[in-house]
Formats: sequence, C-alpha cells, structure tokens
Amino acid sequence: MTSNDSVPRRRIGQDGPLVAAVGLGCMGMTRAYETDDDEPRSIATIHRAIERAAAAGTRPLIDTAELYGATANEQLVGRALTGRRDEVVLATKVGLVSVPPSAELPLGIARDARPERIADAAEASLRRLGTDVIDLYQLHRVDPAVPIEETWGAMAELVARGLVRQLGLSEVTVQEAERAHAIHPVASIQSELSLWSREPLEDGVLAWTAEHGASFLPYSPLGRGVLTGAVDVAALGQDDFRSLLPRFQGEAWEQNRQAVQVVAEQARRLEATPAQVALAWVLAQGEQVIPIPGTTRPARYDENLAAAALRLDDEARAALDTTTAAVGGTVSP
Ligand SMILES: NC(=O)c1ccc[n+]([C@@H]2O[C@H](COP(=O)([O-])OP(=O)(O)OC[C@H]3O[C@@H](n4cnc5c(N)ncnc54)[C@H](OP(=O)(O)O)[C@@H]3O)[C@@H](O)[C@H]2O)c1
Repeated sequence: MTSNDSVPRRRIGQDGPLVAAVGLGCMGMTRAYETDDDEPRSIATIHRAIERAAAAGTRPLIDTAELYGATANEQLVGRALTGRRDEVVLATKVGLVSVPPSAELPLGIARDARPERIADAAEASLRRLGTDVIDLYQLHRVDPAVPIEETWGAMAELVARGLVRQLGLSEVTVQEAERAHAIHPVASIQSELSLWSREPLEDGVLAWTAEHGASFLPYSPLGRGVLTGAVDVAALGQDDFRSLLPRFQGEAWEQNRQAVQVVAEQARRLEATPAQVALAWVLAQGEQVIPIPGTTRPARYDENLAAAALRLDDEARAALDTTTAAVGGTVSP
C-alpha cells in the first residue's frame, strides 16, 4: 500500500475542525534526530501534506512548538505557510523553553508555564508562524511551580482575545486534565503513544479523551522512527537524541527490537509498510486518535497518510497486541 485512495477525517475536540486522520509532526525539521537539515525538503513535506489533504477535501494538522529548534521550527513552519495559512490546522505549544544544558537540565529544556509569560509567548509564536491566530495552542508540560489552573486560565484568555481557537494539553494525568477542563474545554491531549509507549491506555488518559470529546494526538507514534525498521540503532550518532534513550541501549534494546520484527512480519503479510502497520495500530485505539508522525520527506508523508486506510486483521491485531511495551523507557523533559 503506497498511496491513499481516500483520506479518513477526524475532528479536533468536540466542535473543532476536521483534519486528515494522520497529521504531520514538524519537530525533526530542525534537527531533533540525525537528519540533515534540509529546509526545502521539509517545506515540500508540509506542502505535500496540504495537497494530499486538500485532494480529499480536508486539511492536515501541522504540529510544532516554541521549543523546537529553539524557535527555529516555528519560523520554518511560518515560511512554509506563507500564503497558505488557511490550508492547514496549525498547532503549536508553550511551556517548554530552550536553555543552556546544565547538570540539572542536561537536555537543555526547562519548564516555564508562568501565566505572566503566556500572552507574550503566544504573540511571539504568532509572529514566527506569520499568522494572526493559532488553531490549537497546547501546554507542552505542566510547570510544577505553577498550578495548572493559573496557566490554563492565561491560555483561555488568549481564546477570549481571538489569538487562539482551541486549547490542548500534553503529557498530563487524568487529574490535571480534569482541573483544566473545569476552567476551559480541553480540545486535545498529546502524549507519547506507540506499540512501545502504552501509558495512555493504562493510566486512563486515552479513555478520558473519548469520554470528554477531546482528541488524542499520539506523538512519536513510530517509536521515534525505530519501529519502521529503517534506523540502525547501533549506529546512532551522539548528536542524535535517540542515542540517549534507555530503550535503545544494551539489554533493553535486545528485548525491544522484537516489536520491530513483529511489525515487519505483519507488514509483509498485509502488503503494507512497517510505518503503516505501526500507525494503523495507533489509529485503531480510538476514533478520537489523530497521530502526528514526524517526517522531513514528502514521500513518507504519503506513506504515513495511507496508514489511515489500512485495516489490521485479527491476526495482525493479535500479533501486535502481544508485543510488549518497551523496557528502558524514554526521556521526557
Ligand atoms: N508533546 C511532546 O512532548 C512531543 C514529544 C516528541 C514529539 N512530539 C511531536 O510528535 C511528532 C512526531 O514524533 P517524533 O518525530 O518524535 O517521532 P516519530 O513520528 O515516531 O518518528 C519520526 C522519525 O521517523 C522517521 N520516519 C517518518 N516516517 C517514516 C516512514 N514512513 N518510514 C521510515 N521512517 C520514517 C523520520 O525520519 P525522516 O524525517 O527522515 O522521514 C523521523 O526520524 C514530532 O514531530 C512533534 O511534533 C511531541
């Protein structure tokens, strides 16, 4: 399966826009993993997502954040959307900022979701993105120094001012989602979900989104690309973030690589690609699920979008369900 015959659509939140069921994560376009920075190719990928969705009468969800590339990612997305802003549903995030790496913050990422920062941060994102409204403004992480009500209240003011259309959360607990929802509707929750990262299935967050009319946006649905079988884990360079992740080291990797094999076997059997099988499993977790795989290559967006038309049969579901979540975990700021 290499192209999509039809593009299923899913809605953002209860009353938000319809989008193609597979979105596009832009983080890798400014060097998160070991890819060559290729802005023309990245912009072509965003344009491909627009064209594929438009052909099906819809728009793609494009996901970025002020954090990515220390704001360079939003600038790249802004350049890609010049003259085409209305052809996408645009999502960005606030609450994680880039800082010099230190012993305390080795990833060079700090949480900052103080309410007094929110309006300035949103206006700076709007400028970088070259737009006057953000469709989905997401809290990247809850700031432990700030009650979520205060951050969320400041974000809700942006909706009242017309700068933002809907609000989303990322990596929250059910209790945090409840507290935010009591102040302003939670349109989406973005958390890691893949065959290797199943916490949202177990901690009630995925179920909470279904019960409250919110979308669930799985990030890293391809296991940071590794579930596709296209990454040689042993050869990851030190400047590739994945080389830091415990799940790709030593004995943990020996165990975790079994899932890569199962995905490859099912892909062969279903005449699909491994990426499509990994995404189809995520999409099958609920009608509210809209994965945002990251790619910097137009042809891979086509491939990933086609996963929305792939039906996993019982044998595939059983084989994939019996793989286990990754041991060794991941690293989250
Ligand atoms: N909320 C959060 O805290 C958070 C955290 C992490 C990520 N995110 C969001 O989630 C998005 C996706 O996550 P992610 O980029 O970490 O991981 P991912 O989507 O699991 O994997 C991305 C990697 O897979 C490769 N890839 C994509 N399609 C492929 C295909 N069909 N075949 C083979 N390889 C393929 C990409 O390489 P190429 O570019 O070379 O195709 C890239 O290296 C990000 O862009 C970001 O928007 C959010």
